[in-house]
Amino acid sequence: MAIRSLICSVLGHVDHGKSSILDKIRGTAITAKEAGGITQAIGASIIPLDTIKKICGDLIKATNMKITIPGLLFVDTPGHAAFTSLRKRGGSIADIAILVIDINEGFKPQTEEAIEILRNSKTPFVIAANKVDLISGWQQKHKNIIQNIGSLNSEIFARIEQRLYEIVGRLSEKFSMNSERFDRVEDYTKEIAIVPCSAKTGDGIPELLMVITALAQRYLEQNLQFSEKGPAKGTIMEVKEEKGLGHTMDVILYDGTLKLGDTIVIGSLQEPIIAKVRALFEPMPLEEMRDKKSKFKPVKEAEAATGVKISAPGAEEAMSGMPIISVIDKNDLEKTKRLVQQEIENVVMETEGEGIVIKADNLGSLEAMINILKGKKMQIRRASLGEITKQDIADAESNYETDPLMSVILAFNIVPSDETISMSGKVHIISNEVIYRLIEEYEKWKETQSRALEEKKLEDVTRPCKIQLMKGYVFRQSNPAVVGCEILMGKAKAGISLMNMEGKVLTEIKQIQLEQENIAEAERGKQVAVSMAGVAIGRQIKEGDILYSAVPEEDYKRLKELKKYLKNDEKELLNDIAKIMRKNNPVWGI
Ligand code: GTP
Ligand code: MG
Repeated sequence: MAIRSLICSVLGHVDHGKSSILDKIRGTAITAKEAGGITQAIGASIIPLDTIKKICGDLIKATNMKITIPGLLFVDTPGHAAFTSLRKRGGSIADIAILVIDINEGFKPQTEEAIEILRNSKTPFVIAANKVDLISGWQQKHKNIIQNIGSLNSEIFARIEQRLYEIVGRLSEKFSMNSERFDRVEDYTKEIAIVPCSAKTGDGIPELLMVITALAQRYLEQNLQFSEKGPAKGTIMEVKEEKGLGHTMDVILYDGTLKLGDTIVIGSLQEPIIAKVRALFEPMPLEEMRDKKSKFKPVKEAEAATGVKISAPGAEEAMSGMPIISVIDKNDLEKTKRLVQQEIENVVMETEGEGIVIKADNLGSLEAMINILKGKKMQIRRASLGEITKQDIADAESNYETDPLMSVILAFNIVPSDETISMSGKVHIISNEVIYRLIEEYEKWKETQSRALEEKKLEDVTRPCKIQLMKGYVFRQSNPAVVGCEILMGKAKAGISLMNMEGKVLTEIKQIQLEQENIAEAERGKQVAVSMAGVAIGRQIKEGDILYSAVPEEDYKRLKELKKYLKNDEKELLNDIAKIMRKNNPVWGI
């Protein structure tokens, strides 16, 4: 057994400085000029322990720790989707992560999503509170970030403290996580360290490296043991055509050693793919890149933890996020296939119950999405990879009868084709390339949808109204009676029955006219001509009488449920109507 490098991925909201921090770390490593200061791997850089020690100087000595981890493998995770695809069985491929937060902007939705993903995969992390140089009044006086902050005038000092405590507050409120500025952390197992830094000026970058190294050493050493001779295990980051090399897979290896000629088993939506490694590549060393045309250097083997480019004919169908395991002993082929297959089946799910349908373009994102949705107590009926299929639509549609709001497909990083849209029918498809936006859009859609559905229900019930027959406005005595009325409360509609204050139904509104035009309804405050069937003015009713709409008991109950859509005067009126009805039947509407 040996100890491999620690895999560290960087995540955070768009533009908060993930790539810049990695560039700065790389740049610092190169200028540290230690022999072998940095090794470029595909999609990653390896910074050996000696270089880290050199960059951190006295910072590491001050921790009094004996560092045994060989180094750090920083995985460049371009964009947000990539991080979620960097998974392995039971969690994230990263041993540790840097969560980047722009100290000036603070928490953003993607910051929260990143924390949820880290929490679900139980990945320890440190926070880089980046862009401190943009805080007005910032000056670089000391190399040590804490000394530097301490040397600033009290107003600027207070500004920085305030921003840091906003981060501390949010972590505590929203996630019940304790955190502190790194130099004030007493116990790294209980508190998350926050390192103020700037990817632009380099302030705080050595401290960031120091905190990660110390954390790794203290808590992760046992996880970093790996067998050099064991089968190689990795996750596909990207599948792409490469000039002169053809079809290739960029893979982060987290265990074992991969050699030329090895048989590999790759996860797939159908049967696992079996292929042979024809070529392995690393990036050209920086010096040689200038002379030679090629960006890649062939190698004979690659040992974890690293990133390699693999050319393996037969693996054209491979997808990002899929697991890959090499087969050392031919007899292990079937076992390895099962292992790979299981890993996919563990994520992809199908149930017979009610729930929404979700899709993603890679396994890691699908897993992250399932975890986030489950955290929000949302039911999932089917979770699968790739294009939206007829089966997906049928499954989503089967919810329609019981709950139209579940008749939905959330698609991560998958744009539905025109054909899919045209056959989607009653199913609502939401697609986006950020998980939290998908969920946000779904929630918004649900809200407008449920409002529309309830408003539709409201159309079919008798709404409460209170009208008064105006004195001196009888246009016709009977057959039908036509009389000027004022709407005192609620809304009068053609077709509704009217009752008196004793709850006795007297007549029905046949028509409502305003300036000799028929109208369907009239609101509070309006004066209109109302024609009423079966009554004669002066007999059953007379001028000045007040009438109420005769709301049937069922409708009354409905209206109570849909109360939030009623105006205040309608609610009040509904109570009055109930009082009238309960004179004869004390349990009316209950
Ligand atoms: P995505 O990959 O698009 O999600 O962004 P990112 O998080 O990788 O951010 P990136 O490193 O590309 O930085 C975004 C912008 O912020 C760039 O214009 C950087 O130059 C700038 N930037 C990053 N870090 C700092 C910093 O510490 N100080 C200042 N002033 N600018 C910074
Ligand atoms: Mg970036």
